[in-house]
Amino acid sequence: MRIQVDVNEALQDYVASISLREPDVLRDLRVKTSELPLSLMQISPEQGQFISLLVKAIGAKKALEVGVFTGYSLLATALALPEGGSVTALDISEEWTAIARDFAERAGVSDKVDLRIGDARASLDALLLEEGAAGSFDFVFIDADKENYWAYYEAALTLLRPGGLVVVDNVLWHGAVLDETKQDSETTALREFNAKVRDDKRVELSVLPFADGLTFALKR
Ligand SMILES: C[S@@+](CC[C@H](N)C(=O)[O-])C[C@H]1O[C@@H](n2cnc3c(N)ncnc32)[C@H](O)[C@@H]1O
Repeated sequence: MRIQVDVNEALQDYVASISLREPDVLRDLRVKTSELPLSLMQISPEQGQFISLLVKAIGAKKALEVGVFTGYSLLATALALPEGGSVTALDISEEWTAIARDFAERAGVSDKVDLRIGDARASLDALLLEEGAAGSFDFVFIDADKENYWAYYEAALTLLRPGGLVVVDNVLWHGAVLDETKQDSETTALREFNAKVRDDKRVELSVLPFADGLTFALKR
């Protein structure tokens, strides 16, 4: 038997009430993002705080993010990094990432942010060719187009040092991964991704049914 508390709306509010410590700048960014039609793409504040904790827990200095949107996870990461730390951030949208740039500036962390605009696969190919890049990253967060998750994950594993952590968002896809009537490209890509990571002996693995499902893979 599994002990699993039913995390309903009221319990989620309770968890937030006993744990959430959202910095003002992140709250302001969330409010700004909420005005956008696609605001649901943003991670939750609880997730942002969790990323921040992970970055600090592993002592990350060099991070990578695939999928920036308006920058909530990027800013949470940049704020958690130590002085001299850096986060390379990849996204295809000039428009959305302009907001991320603005808030990184406001938060006083723009010196830690290296934002690269373009298709993330091409940006990752370019990054992989940079001298010293392979094996130099401590932390990777993947939260972009689901069809390319495996390519992003493979690049992440090359870029991470042994003991580096990759975190992947939306792996449960609102439960669609279990619904066989859902055969769209995003859902099928996530099913394939999850099955491949399950069998990947290069990593220590944990999947948490938190938010929309998060995969944690620690490079061996
Ligand atoms: C779910 S949002 C990211 C949310 C963000 N992590 C946050 O905390 O708000 C996904 C992002 O992936 C970007 N994206 C989608 N396809 C992409 C691609 N092929 N290359 C680069 N970025 C892409 C989108 O522009 C969008 O900003």
